[in-house]
This record gives sequence, structure tokens and C-alpha cells, in this order.
Amino acid sequence: YGTMTINERNHLEIGGVDTTEIVREFGTPVYVYDVALIREQAAGFKRAFESADIPYQVAYASKAFSTIAMVQLADELGLSLDVVSSGEMMTAKKADFPMEKVHFHGNNKSKEEIRLAFDLNIGCIVLDNFHDIALVSKEAAKREQKMDVLLRITPGIEAHTHEYIATGQEDSKFGFDLTSGQVEEAIRQLQHDSYVNILGIHSHIGSQIFETDGFVLVIEKIFQELPQWKEKFQFVPAVLNVGGGFGIRYTKEDEPLRPEEYVTPIIRAIKKEAIKAEMDIPEIWIEPGRSIVGEAGTTLYTVGAQKEVPNVRRYVSVDGGMTDNIRPALYEAKYEALLANRAKDPVENTFSIAGKCCESGDMLIWDISLPEPEDEDILAVFATGAYGYSMANNYNRFTKPPVVFVENGQCHLVVKRETIEDLLKNDLPLYSPERV
Ligand code: LLP
Repeated sequence: YGTMTINERNHLEIGGVDTTEIVREFGTPVYVYDVALIREQAAGFKRAFESADIPYQVAYASKAFSTIAMVQLADELGLSLDVVSSGEMMTAKKADFPMEKVHFHGNNKSKEEIRLAFDLNIGCIVLDNFHDIALVSKEAAKREQKMDVLLRITPGIEAHTHEYIATGQEDSKFGFDLTSGQVEEAIRQLQHDSYVNILGIHSHIGSQIFETDGFVLVIEKIFQELPQWKEKFQFVPAVLNVGGGFGIRYTKEDEPLRPEEYVTPIIRAIKKEAIKAEMDIPEIWIEPGRSIVGEAGTTLYTVGAQKEVPNVRRYVSVDGGMTDNIRPALYEAKYEALLANRAKDPVENTFSIAGKCCESGDMLIWDISLPEPEDEDILAVFATGAYGYSMANNYNRFTKPPVVFVENGQCHLVVKRETIEDLLKNDLPLYSPERV
């Protein structure tokens, strides 16, 4: 992955920094991000649009990994930002991110969140349902403040990584149904709204996708509807947002495309459909999350207790687990790993990597080949950059690990390790002191 190498001390190095040095300085578990790889991925997506000479926005889906430093990096890389909560919105604000490049998503936006979006003057709200329309329209009128919106449609296509299932009226909590008249009703409701402007259409077909057919299918579906919208409402979308979902490599079995390979067929399909429909090519937006940060992240753990179940399995426990990476427990997600302090040592056996939570399901990796792990070895688990830190939790009252950015031999702490004090700061005693 990215700038990873093994140095002359047989240690894994990321961004020119020896991982054992990172551990010495920050302890374990720790999330390490290879900044150069994040830059490369972002540049790849942008390059595809630029070489096609087409107006675009690449919005980083910050749900994959949102911290002030990451949002600042996204800004530096010329990305827009997809947020789904007040927390992610305020992270953008705190990072001094240009708020006109922020897009606000969610299937149940609260009034407070919508007010915040208006207060912060964000670029657009992605309307998900009729409740959203009512709240946003009311807020805009009350303030006499304009707001651009996208209408999120339910694409009726589900990407199951290697296949697409056209489910017609897809059973999903997100978006307006494309074929049953819900989108038309949404356009009708906003047609004469003097403050809310429908900038375009949004769709998102899924996540960890390795092919482009699903995107092309949904583009064709949307374009089928356009003539009717134009005829009935004189509505022509200026923006078409095809969402995120571009896959990454977790294990050798995964064969993701490069950013350009995902984007180019999307551009081609939209151009083709626009020409067919005799309309201007809309601005194309995408929302990659995982593919920007996923492979750039590595989690470092320390090896502790081991247990052998004779003739069955060897369990090797590390000092983290489902609290810093819930994906194996939640999705049976697979990961690769190696011993970072003995990176080239020959593989000796298969081991299963256990977390330290009080739950049998807290396993990070089943049956991985490694050299014989020893106490205090450092285990590096790869491709943990997306939905690792962002889905971290405090089960068993474990504290969240710190986040370190590495680049050009430099190490930079961007999130401090959570402390037990942090954990306890909102707790209140059973009885107020007066009552005791
Ligand atoms: N846009 C929308 C509207 C989305 O719902 C998502 C992800 C994205 C963009 C970014 O998708 P990405 O490029 O990251 O695949 N927690 C799960 C993934 C949930 C994805 C939710 N939506 C996981 O760990 O695999």
C-alpha cells in the first residue's frame, strides 16, 4: 500500500517513518495514515475529470474518516465535502473548510441540523424525503435565505460488489423513489419555492464496488426520466451526483479499479446520454469516502496473550479490537496484517487475531499466516483508514486510539489518545452531593 516499505532493520516503514518509532512515541493501538496515498487517490479522481475537461466536484465523504486535520487535508487537495451530521458539519467549520463546498446528507435531518446548515451557509442540502422538503422549505422561507438542494433518488439498483440487482422499487430508507412518482412530486412541491433551488439529482448505489456497470445503469435510468421532468416542470438538473462507493483492496482477493478507471466510464455515460437527450452536460459530482482514505490507514497493535486450542486454532490477542475496528464483527470484513517489527521474517503458522473486548465475536482476523508472534510484537493491520476511527466506540470503556499522519519521514499527531477522564467527563453520580 502507498509508501510502505521494509527498512534495513526489518521494520515496516510508512511514509518514511519506522512504525516501531511511531509505537515508541504514541503507544498502541494507533491509527497511522499515509498522507501521500490520500493525495494520490484524490488527485486520481480529479485528473479523470480534468482530462475530460468537464465541470465537476469530488466531494470527500467525511463519514469514512472525519477529523479536523483530515478535513483540512481535503481542502488542501481541492475536494468538496459530504457531511451527514452537525458533528461532521462543525468539524468542517472548525477546519476552516470553505462551507460553500459542503453538502449535507441524511435521511432524518433534525431541525437543529438544518438550522446549522443555513447558519453556516453550506453549499447544498441533499433532500432525502418529503419531511426534509418541508423542513428546509420552511426554514429558507423564515430566514428569506436561499438554499441549493439536490434530490436524492432511490436508484432501484443495488450493488452487491460483483453484481447489480435491479430491484425496481428498491426497499431502502434513502431517497425518493424514481419510478413511482415520488421524484415528480418532490419537484412539484419545490417548483415555485422562491428560496429553495433544485440544483440537481443525487444517487448512491452502494459501497465497496469494483465495477462501473451499476453507475452506468443508474445514469441511464435517470436520463430516461429527464424529458418528462423538462416537459412537466421545465426542470433540467444542472448537477448529477452519482455518489461514492468505489472499492479498495483489503485483501489479495479484492481487485479495485484506479480512481480514473471508475470515473472515466461515468463521464462517458453521462456525456453519451446528454447528447442523446440534446441537453447540456450536467456538472458531475462524486462522493468517494473509502477510496480516498481506506488503503492509507494502518492500525498498529501490540501482541499480548495467546491461547492454543489444541489441533484447532491459535488465538493471538492484541490490545485493540472491535472498539477501534468494528468491521470484522459487523460485516465479516477481511483484513491483511504482518508483524511490523519483524516484517520479512518467514511465515511459520496460521493464527487468529483476537481483540480484547469481552465478546467472542471480537475477532479481527481469522486464520492468517504469520511468523510465530511473540509478546510485545507489533501487528500492523492494513487498509483500516475508512470506517475504522469513524466507527470506533467505547465498548468495555476502552478509550479511542490516537491518529498519526505520516509523510516524507515526518510524523504528526492529529488526534490525541482518548483518556479515561474524557470517558468519564459526562458521567454524573447517582445522588447529588446534597442528598448524600
Ligand atoms: N455518499 C453517500 C450518500 C453514502 O451513503 C456513502 C456511504 C458515501 C457517499 C461514501 O461511500 P464510500 O465511497 O465510502 O463507499 N460503514 C460501512 C460503509 C457505509 C457506507 C455508507 N455510505 C463500512 O464500513 O463498510
